Amino acid sequence: MIEAKSISKFFSVVNEKGLAEGLTAVLNVSLTVPDGKIVSLLGPSGCGKSTFLEILAGLQAPTDGAIRIDGKLVLEPLPATRKEQIAYRRRYRFISPLANGVFRDHPKHDIAMIFQDYAVFPWMTALQNVVFALKLRNAGIKRGGVSAAGCPGHQGAARLKSREIEERALYYLGKAGLAVSAHKYPSQLSGGMRQRLALARALSVEPKIILMDEPFAAVDALTREKLQDELLRLWQETAGAGSPITIVLVTHDVQEAVYLSDEVVVFSPGPGSIRNRIPVTAKRPRARTDAGLVEIQERILAIFQYDINQEADYSI
Ligand SMILES: Nc1ncnc2c1ncn2[C@@H]1O[C@H](COP(=O)(O)OP(=O)(O)O)[C@@H](O)[C@H]1O
Ligand SMILES: [Mg+2]
Repeated sequence: MIEAKSISKFFSVVNEKGLAEGLTAVLNVSLTVPDGKIVSLLGPSGCGKSTFLEILAGLQAPTDGAIRIDGKLVLEPLPATRKEQIAYRRRYRFISPLANGVFRDHPKHDIAMIFQDYAVFPWMTALQNVVFALKLRNAGIKRGGVSAAGCPGHQGAARLKSREIEERALYYLGKAGLAVSAHKYPSQLSGGMRQRLALARALSVEPKIILMDEPFAAVDALTREKLQDELLRLWQETAGAGSPITIVLVTHDVQEAVYLSDEVVVFSPGPGSIRNRIPVTAKRPRARTDAGLVEIQERILAIFQYDINQEADYSI
């Protein structure tokens, strides 16, 4: 279970006059995501969705509040004094820029993250991309469940031998429909295929949680629907195997959010805070035209319309 408690994130930015200014990206967000559910974070651009997702992943520290996964703290808030901050950074030095792409080696948890821009390495073939993620995972479970950075991680998880790594990589590429493209480079793949590669890589490490930031925003509408269905199929397979993956998905597409999710969390336009939480109880498999789903979509669109009207009133 993911529990976010009173998460806030402030940035200091330089305004057009060259003066430092505070910016509230996320304000007091509390959210619980039960195991095995799909939850969408929906909101207009710039409302703090990506920031919140990165805090969930432990890629950014919250200014205030705490994220717990299965009761364990993900990252503590950044301390106030410079001296404490140096000690804090030293403690969390395992968060490298590289981790952005294939983030799995979380010290305590099993999280994979998929970024909007795919974040696959262009100089590696599809197969090499997945193999790389699995090697990182191995590096994280060196020395009897203690990661290379000295943080306890992957307790109970077994390291894979090189042969197993390749087998597993090919298995997940096959699941994502990329078996015949295993030796192609990302530049030789279409946008949809690249996104499927990112999905195969995330699934290959067999995480408990997948965090996705606008995963299908960059592909055309038809491909997007196909990818959504493939995601649901893969998710249902993990449920069939008895350990459904928990998915938190950021999107600004109302239809996508309602079609995929067990719950839609609507963010208010900046500073990001929760505006509404809307459960979607329709049984799966769902039809996109299901009257219940369409009604929920309309409700959400009405919320957005209301916010836009409010803004218009202010500007008069
Ligand atoms: N590292 C940063 N420094 C300063 N401001 C930032 C930083 N990251 C994000 N922001 C600001 O925080 C707000 C929320 O950004 P973001 O989380 O990317 O929104 P969204 O993903 O909903 O489009 C924006 O106003 C953005 O400019
Ligand atoms: Mg974003």
